[in-house]
Amino acid sequence: MSNVSRGLLLLAFFAIALLGLIAALVPLSTSLIEQWSRRDVELRSELVFNSIRDRIEREVTSPSQELRPLFERLTSDERILALGLCDASGQIVVSTRRMPRDVQCHPIIASGTPVARSVRFERTRIDGERVLVGIFPLTGAATTGSLVILHELAFVSSRIVEARWYMVVVGIALLLLVGTLALLILGLMQRRYMAGVLATIQDMRTGRPQRGVMDPVLKDESREIRGLLRDFREKIRQEDGTPLEWSPSTLQDLLENELPDAEVFVVSNREPYIHNHADDGRAVVQRPASGLVSALEPVMRACGGTWVAHGSGSADRETVDASDHVLVPPAKPAYRLRRIWITDEEQEGYYYGFANEGLWPLCHLAYVRPIFRESDWLQYVAINQRFADAIVREASRPDPVIMVQDYHFALLPRMIRAQLPKATILTFWHIPWPNAEAFGICPWKEEIIAGLLGSTVLGFHTQAYCNNFFETVDRFMESRIDREHRSVVFGGEETMVRPYPISIEWPPAALLSQQPVAECRRAVRERFNLPEDMKIGVGIERFDYTKGILDRLMAIDELLARQPQWKGRFAFIQIVAPTRSKLPSYTSLQKEALRLTDEINERHGAGGYKPILLVIRHHEPDEVYELFRAADLCVVSSLHDGMNLVAKEFVAARDDEQGALVLSRFAGASSELGEALIINPYDVQGMAEAIGRALVMPEDEQRERMRLMRAQVRERNVYRWAGQILLDASRLRKRQRVKEFEEGL
Ligand code: F6P
Repeated sequence: MSNVSRGLLLLAFFAIALLGLIAALVPLSTSLIEQWSRRDVELRSELVFNSIRDRIEREVTSPSQELRPLFERLTSDERILALGLCDASGQIVVSTRRMPRDVQCHPIIASGTPVARSVRFERTRIDGERVLVGIFPLTGAATTGSLVILHELAFVSSRIVEARWYMVVVGIALLLLVGTLALLILGLMQRRYMAGVLATIQDMRTGRPQRGVMDPVLKDESREIRGLLRDFREKIRQEDGTPLEWSPSTLQDLLENELPDAEVFVVSNREPYIHNHADDGRAVVQRPASGLVSALEPVMRACGGTWVAHGSGSADRETVDASDHVLVPPAKPAYRLRRIWITDEEQEGYYYGFANEGLWPLCHLAYVRPIFRESDWLQYVAINQRFADAIVREASRPDPVIMVQDYHFALLPRMIRAQLPKATILTFWHIPWPNAEAFGICPWKEEIIAGLLGSTVLGFHTQAYCNNFFETVDRFMESRIDREHRSVVFGGEETMVRPYPISIEWPPAALLSQQPVAECRRAVRERFNLPEDMKIGVGIERFDYTKGILDRLMAIDELLARQPQWKGRFAFIQIVAPTRSKLPSYTSLQKEALRLTDEINERHGAGGYKPILLVIRHHEPDEVYELFRAADLCVVSSLHDGMNLVAKEFVAARDDEQGALVLSRFAGASSELGEALIINPYDVQGMAEAIGRALVMPEDEQRERMRLMRAQVRERNVYRWAGQILLDASRLRKRQRVKEFEEGL
């Protein structure tokens, strides 16, 4: 039985009990009122008698004419009906006008013997009305006779009726009161019950152990809900293989169930662990500032396999084995890193040249002109081929699952396909894909598209980028585009093109070692010499022109000019990791950022106060998370960005649900983090206003926004990203197997 039914039953029971009580009380109250009223009347009669007793005892034998007016005056009391004086024989000798004729006093003396010497009361009816007759004997030494007083009793009946009404009204009021109280208690019980249900579901979602539900009834039901949810999740998982929550273990389960015995490879330019020589010559490990690495590393830790990447560290060669392998993470190995060696000259052409001076500005609309050199292109082709050959050599089976990452390897999918036709090649393009018009300026556009269409699945961050890709293929390639199945058939082979919004691990590993927020704030204030009451903003990224760093600095300048009250009360810590510093577009950005920072600090700074603290060095994840936790706000003002994981990391770092995020609408993350303050980075004034708003955002509002964003990042984490690509891959592999059966028949 539910709590509501229990409550309603209790209420009905109470109503019936109350009605029964009222019914039992009615006769009792009637008799009590009768007795009490009669006693009241008797006392009044005695009072009247005593007040005139002396006089009438004197006059009883020869009553004077003044007695009558006296009696009449006494009957002015509304309840005294009549008064009469009787002689010893019981005859009325003086009476008021309204004395009924048939009223008789009993004789005091009969046949010389006194018959009544005490007061008597009798009830009778006169003209249908209830009347109380009081007979008071006059017992003085020389006097005989009696005084008769008639009291009407009609008021007793109305008193009884009134009392009954009173009981009914009190009963109804009690019923209403108890009913309201019962409803309130029921409401509270219901809320508590629902909170228990929600907590149970929440615990199931987060995998937290069951919280103590104190009520034993709820405890039982909580167990029941958990059981039902488990069944439900299992059913959904069985139906389409999609787990509802994504974690390392769901990803491992998925690989075991959907891609059993699969040999997994990840290919990227940037390696997840770089060994560099420290000043003392020792080899030290560094984690690169790369969104791609932050996203894929936890996936590889969960799945195992081999990560193939450029060995770019100064101590990389001395830390690999004879086959160029090293187990990582160094502290707790979970997968294998295979390093590929690239000469400086090759790096110039493949990485700096074609990838970063050609494709990067081609795909990011940040108004930096792409540069295409044939020599760069040739290096790009050669390095793609080197990676393809290495993977083919590494593969121990004909059908590995190969996850190709980013714009450095546009040609790799087709090159691998040529040597391993049964491989499942999952390519993810981590940067935006521009519209066909913009992409059309690339002299090797057909080769790049054909290379990518060697993939089994080709993923972008958003549907908009997928649409741009379809449009580009449509414009430049002989192919068939199946928009319904979201695929392209080229050279007789089909490539699925899907959006997979990339994310970060949840909970982030770097968060586990963090101090409480107050402690992080204290540490950061101390490090940057900032007073207790100063608001802190942060920006953390690679020193890249797509990140809108200059526009952000200009917005802070604008804010301090328009709202000078923030001078001395707001500092912006801008952390930038040097990147691609050999390229002129990057060096000029660095120079301009330094110049602008000095100019703004000079304009608005005073004493020791500098509004902008520019720190140019690589920061490890622990330091980044500490800064995020210490900040009041974070600004991500990318001019164009595939996703931007910094925004998601800031949200993940704030387990205190505080802090405001100012986010560019041109970052892919803005389509998921709608509760951020969304800005157009080209509108400096608008950005300044948003930063000003973030500075005064009430804590409640920060909490509401942060809660929603955290739920989004938690649910759509990187395990989901990888899981969905792998699920699609597994479906295609199964379909491929069925096709092979058919062809074999
Ligand atoms: O944004 C795409 C991306 O590959 C990121 O993952 C990474 O941060 C960057 O570009 C590449 O940086 P780098 O050239 O330093 O490896």
